[in-house]
Amino acid sequence: MKHILVVIYIFYCWLNNVVVINGSSAGDVLSQQFTKFAILQAVRGDEQVVLTWNAVPAVLEYVIEYGTSSQTYTKTLISLSSSLTITGLDNGFTYYFRVTARLITGATNTTSEVSVRLPRLSGLRPRELGLLINDNDPESVMIGEYYRTRRHIPSQNIVHLNVSIKVQLSSAEFLALKDQVDRTLPTTVQALAIAWTIPYRVECNSITSAFALNYMDGPCKASTCNWAASSPYYKTNSTKPFTDFKMRPAMMLAALTADETKSMINRGIASDGTHPRGSAYIMNTTDSLRSLRARIFPVANLGTALSSSVNVQIRNADWISNTTDALFYFQGLASVINIDRNEFPPGAIGDHLTSFGGMLTDSYQMSALKFIAGGTTGTFGTVTEPCAYAEKFPDPTIMIQYYTKGETLIEAYWKSILQTFQGIFVGEPLANPWKQEIV
Ligand SMILES: *[C@@H]1O[C@H](CO)[C@@H](O)[C@H](O)[C@H]1NC(C)=O
Ligand SMILES: *[C@@H]1O[C@H](CO)[C@@H](O)[C@H](O)[C@H]1NC(C)=O
Ligand SMILES: *[C@@H]1O[C@H](CO)[C@@H](O)[C@H](O)[C@H]1NC(C)=O
Ligand SMILES: *[C@@H]1O[C@H](CO)[C@@H](O)[C@H](O)[C@H]1NC(C)=O
Ligand SMILES: *[C@@H]1O[C@H](CO)[C@@H](O)[C@H](O)[C@H]1NC(C)=O
Repeated sequence: MKHILVVIYIFYCWLNNVVVINGSSAGDVLSQQFTKFAILQAVRGDEQVVLTWNAVPAVLEYVIEYGTSSQTYTKTLISLSSSLTITGLDNGFTYYFRVTARLITGATNTTSEVSVRLPRLSGLRPRELGLLINDNDPESVMIGEYYRTRRHIPSQNIVHLNVSIKVQLSSAEFLALKDQVDRTLPTTVQALAIAWTIPYRVECNSITSAFALNYMDGPCKASTCNWAASSPYYKTNSTKPFTDFKMRPAMMLAALTADETKSMINRGIASDGTHPRGSAYIMNTTDSLRSLRARIFPVANLGTALSSSVNVQIRNADWISNTTDALFYFQGLASVINIDRNEFPPGAIGDHLTSFGGMLTDSYQMSALKFIAGGTTGTFGTVTEPCAYAEKFPDPTIMIQYYTKGETLIEAYWKSILQTFQGIFVGEPLANPWKQEIV
């Protein structure tokens, strides 16, 4: 009788490992194990599948072949054990697998094909993210490589640049880099991760805005308190900013030390699909000018009006401490104390509305990187004097709404600001705590 491998997908939740069980009863599986070489289990996850097949005696190695159409295998992997995690797959696609056992005798035995459909999940994907590495900066090379492997960024999405290690680039220096990035990246790349801490500025622009929306010289020549071109991505539902607006929102993989950058990356990855519940603290501090966001925050959006997962509250205080539930921490001071006296859930963001928080390494105010040091996964600041315009800082309503809807950190944070030219975004761009399946 021709054996037909029937697989049943038991879908608990996209995050919990989802087990594909051989359609036969457990007894059949056991008795077949010795007569039929087969893939026993395929556990689907986020951009990955874990395959398990029955071990064959006197085997040299197993050859795993797969691709996105039946009987057409475009990728090959080798395993010495009878299980393998296949990473770097694309959500929303069906993959076809087979395994060949190569025996010591030279004989081979191949399984039937098994197919697995990966769920389509909300948010930007690793294959849509470009990664900029400064080959001139050993720390950038190390962080870039760490991020590439942790998030499985495809090699064609990586741009190796030669950037001077200083705080500020001239517009001429920057335009040469921008040109190289634009020429190198495939059009499928929608956003950028920048794997260094300095340079963070191009004249009066942040480097994240300059890469995303081009260098804007207007405010640098006149006054940085002026407005420049607005971000066309602001408050949109776009999932493909490069396709839709020819812009690639950018975010720095930056921190005060390389170890802190790695921890931030780890937190971003750990946040995926955790669906946390907690609070958003919008601080109304003793500094009323910098508490602008608390003053103008719509009362109707307090409590769980924006998301059932987040209790939004105004705190009349200069800091929070001893909290474990701060998913969003919107501060209004030049310097914030006790950030690290809290335990931030993975994926949390914190920022302070002040003039120079975006001067990452040389600010006389507090660097936004102190939020990363304190345990958040994202932060934001301005690199030159913005003056007190709420439109130049993250809007808590938009940030909370879009992030909890299942967008990644880079998408939600960028969409929350209208005037981005002097604002620098820092964080793990793909952090996606409220990642969800799209049907
Ligand atoms: C190889 O496959 C054949 C046919 O399915 C089977 O009879 C044989 O036992 C297999 N050999 C091993 C080592 O699994
Ligand atoms: C990087 O740029 C510097 C100065 O612009 C130059 O001296 C150096 O040779 C460049 N390195 C590479 C690898 O191109
Ligand atoms: C974005 O999508 C939401 C539903 O998720 C909808 O209510 C809103 O009107 C959309 N906004 C725009 C600008 O299309
Ligand atoms: C912020 O604090 C001031 C007192 O410092 C108070 O008058 C004001 O009502 C507070 N605003 C909010 C939104 O709580
Ligand atoms: C925070 O906890 C520490 C001890 O864990 C305690 O000494 C301190 O008073 C607490 N602070 C607040 C504001 O509750």
